[in-house]
Amino acid sequence: MSVFTVLGIESSCDETAAAIVRLTGEWCTVLSDVVAGQVDDHARFGGVVPEVAARAHAEKADAVVAATMKAANLEFNDLDGVAATAGPGLIGGVMVGLVTAKAIALAKGLPLIGVNHLEGHALSPRLSEHCPFPYLLLLVSGGHCQFLHVKGLGNYERLGTTIDDAAGEAFDKTAKLLSLGFPGGPAVEAMAKSGDPGAVRLPRPLLDRPGLDMSFAGLKTAVRQAAAAEPLTDARVADLCASFQRAVTDVLTTRARAAMAKLFHTFPVGGHRFVVAGGVAANATIRAELEAACEAEGYAFLAPPLKWCTDNGAMIALAGAERLRDGFTSPLDLAARPRWPLDEAAAASNPAYGGGKKGAKV
Ligand code: KG4
Ligand code: ZN
Repeated sequence: MSVFTVLGIESSCDETAAAIVRLTGEWCTVLSDVVAGQVDDHARFGGVVPEVAARAHAEKADAVVAATMKAANLEFNDLDGVAATAGPGLIGGVMVGLVTAKAIALAKGLPLIGVNHLEGHALSPRLSEHCPFPYLLLLVSGGHCQFLHVKGLGNYERLGTTIDDAAGEAFDKTAKLLSLGFPGGPAVEAMAKSGDPGAVRLPRPLLDRPGLDMSFAGLKTAVRQAAAAEPLTDARVADLCASFQRAVTDVLTTRARAAMAKLFHTFPVGGHRFVVAGGVAANATIRAELEAACEAEGYAFLAPPLKWCTDNGAMIALAGAERLRDGFTSPLDLAARPRWPLDEAAAASNPAYGGGKKGAKV
């Protein structure tokens, strides 16, 4: 049986991360997994500052890789390849991780695999459980919110996407507005626990229209208006958080059920799998509601463990190992990409947002 041991490096946002996975046939073992966050670097700005992130990645990358090798008790010569996120993301950070991987590949004569960060998230359920292709994926993070039909490695069909903000971005902006600190998702979720999800009337944008696209920008504006309408006592903030989280959950679960129904007949009997991945998948309310939606629609529910929902090196190492197994490697002059849709054809023919010179975002 073929065995591929691959180092993966992730640096597209505010986590400097590296991991080593061993792919034995279809079976994946994570040998080591190190994540160095940058919360302290960005907290005082209330969000991720690209230049600060790039500098922090440059300072941490070597040490994170060294710690990853040490934790797995491996030498570079034990590796079969080295993978890194090559996009999409904050370009300064992506360049740091990619150039680190290139240096190792060049010095040790190893194949380089440039990985699409979104493919890392898309494959992340395969890190910890048996999740064969095909499956329906909701990728919901700080930068992305889309439904994908994952047909195989490198074969993704975009079914629907946010047409403006990502759900995680809406969580982060709501937290900033309510002075809950950074990162916003976990802070809003914590406050929501003591609030009433029915207290504040908020819109469910786009749900009155058919299709699988989503929108969160209007929701954010509605939260801002509701926040300005009354004094922000702790109880009011908790109610706003709970009502906001409820609205996001409603949008995601309504669209998820429609996506499941749409694809139901394309999956074989007994092969209905719905996966949620990305940072927002760490939210317990959203997870629970999606799980209930799966039960209602006849799908198995899969979600990576929390540590592999948010950005990590293991998902990049796995995507790299799967690509290496299938014979895909990258040239050493591979360029980092700020934008890189998973379904390039759909993005080109129907850029949901952010077209223009830089290219389609999703
Ligand atoms: O996947 P990720 O680590 O990075 C991107 O690729 O974007 O996702 C980060 C996003 C942030 O917007 C963060 O606020 C959100 O995921 N997030 C959450 C939770 N934990 C992280 N959102 C809601 N509830 C959470 N518990
Ligand atoms: Zn991510």
